Amino acid sequence: MAEVKLQAQGLHKRYGAIQVLSDINLTLYAGQTHALVGSNGAGKSTFVKILTGAVAPDSGSVMLDGRALPLGDPQAALKAGIACIYQHPHLIPELSVMDNIVMGHHPTRRFGWLDRKAQRKAVGELLDKHDLQLDLETPVGLLSSVQQKEVEIAKALSLDASVILMDEPTAALSRAEVDKLFRSIDQLCQRGVAVLYISHILDEIFHIAQQVTVLRDGQVKLSAATAELTKAKLVDAMLGRELIAVGQQAEAHATASRPVALECRALHKHNVFSDINFSLHSGEILCITGLIGAKRTELMRAIFGVDPADSGEIRVWDKPVRIRHPLDAIRLGIGFVPEDRHRDGLFLDLSIGVNAIMSSLKRVTKAGLLLPGTMQRLVRQQIAKMEIMPPLPRYPVKHLSGGNQQKVQLGRWLLGDTKILILDEPTIGIDVGTKATIYRLLRELATQGTAVIVVSSDMEEVLTVADRILVMASGRIVATFGRQDVTQSQILAAVSGEVS
Ligand SMILES: Nc1ncnc2c1ncn2[C@@H]1O[C@H](COP(=O)(O)OP(=O)(O)OP(=O)(O)O)[C@@H](O)[C@H]1O
Ligand SMILES: [Mg+2]
Repeated sequence: MAEVKLQAQGLHKRYGAIQVLSDINLTLYAGQTHALVGSNGAGKSTFVKILTGAVAPDSGSVMLDGRALPLGDPQAALKAGIACIYQHPHLIPELSVMDNIVMGHHPTRRFGWLDRKAQRKAVGELLDKHDLQLDLETPVGLLSSVQQKEVEIAKALSLDASVILMDEPTAALSRAEVDKLFRSIDQLCQRGVAVLYISHILDEIFHIAQQVTVLRDGQVKLSAATAELTKAKLVDAMLGRELIAVGQQAEAHATASRPVALECRALHKHNVFSDINFSLHSGEILCITGLIGAKRTELMRAIFGVDPADSGEIRVWDKPVRIRHPLDAIRLGIGFVPEDRHRDGLFLDLSIGVNAIMSSLKRVTKAGLLLPGTMQRLVRQQIAKMEIMPPLPRYPVKHLSGGNQQKVQLGRWLLGDTKILILDEPTIGIDVGTKATIYRLLRELATQGTAVIVVSSDMEEVLTVADRILVMASGRIVATFGRQDVTQSQILAAVSGEVS
């Protein structure tokens, strides 16, 4: 039996009226990866914050190597060897790999500031030992997402971390990068580190974790060896009900006969994309897939006027248009939900309600006056449809869980009246239950005549929502498929460039 590394016992945490965690017991073993899963708002990040000392529980204890860990004390947790890696890096982009790794070390310690040469040697040895290939002098801001994760892992190791917590580390990574991260995690485990791993991508859990714990409404609903579980069992425990399959509901929609909402003709941007030709019909969901670096996001930004194309033509409702700025696009009835929703778009200090109606001000005002009734109705509808938890209009957005913040943002667009809607990776960070809801909402929109583009790397998502699929590689459209006549392996072949 593996050695017990960390034991959380009877943890409780309440915020106001919301019991976020009740009686959580969880054990991490040295050399093993333990997955923590659950719907948005289930309490996963709060649990992580208790272990890092960022949040103090109301009651309960955490034992590390058989000793009680002082709770609510980040310094103590760090000193005891608990480190955390988040979805968005906590690094200073302008500083080098080396400076980021040694930052925060006490000057007298092995990696401290006193002797630059000795320090460089120590960091070099550490990276070698863990097979992390990083150039010490490169500013961290120039590294890829997975390399930044590796810097964070190196940093944790330099602090002698023996427990590493990862809160949705792969949400910003491509498939190849995820594989790379998994190799790093394997190595951590081989060296006896205990890893706690949070993700909404259940395939990852089965790939990387030996143990899994399911949280629902702040309670442990299931804790078992991954080998004894199936995906279906896991989902049942997460949702407390069976997942209503969205199915491949894209039946033969006769969209070809519908008017063309958006068309690109020979769209070209130097060194980015070229020869882009496609049309999007009213009532159609078009998925654009491909590898990271295929320039899908860049194409969407061009269409929306953020970074316009150099040449070619965009037509909206069969008329040539000039889109040089996002405002031009918005005036034409185009909506765009960007991939990196973390940075922009939410007013964190304001309530769910205010954030929800932000893009529908026209609908909730009359002659410059707010219509409280309409406003309330709209907000309630949005909270219900998007399954936002807690369902309280006045709740500040900054206190929502990561996934629920996403839902507020997405809901604005899904329930607005945009006629052409572009969504870039809409379900990253969103739990499996709500994903299905979002797919249903997208289909509803399309049925009402909205033309939808979904950029997605998630094959299951593509096959669930698309009427038609475009595959991009190196800035070009390399394949087009109708949903009816394509298999996953055909799409994957096109994505990786094996198309004839
Ligand atoms: N500082 C806070 N004040 C009030 N409520 C909070 C605070 N932090 C978290 N909560 C609430 O605690 C609950 C659990 O949030 P948590 O972030 O732990 O969820 P999660 O499981 O990580 O979800 P996700 O998958 O969306 O990241 C949510 O209902 C959230 O609104
Ligand atoms: Mg979270």
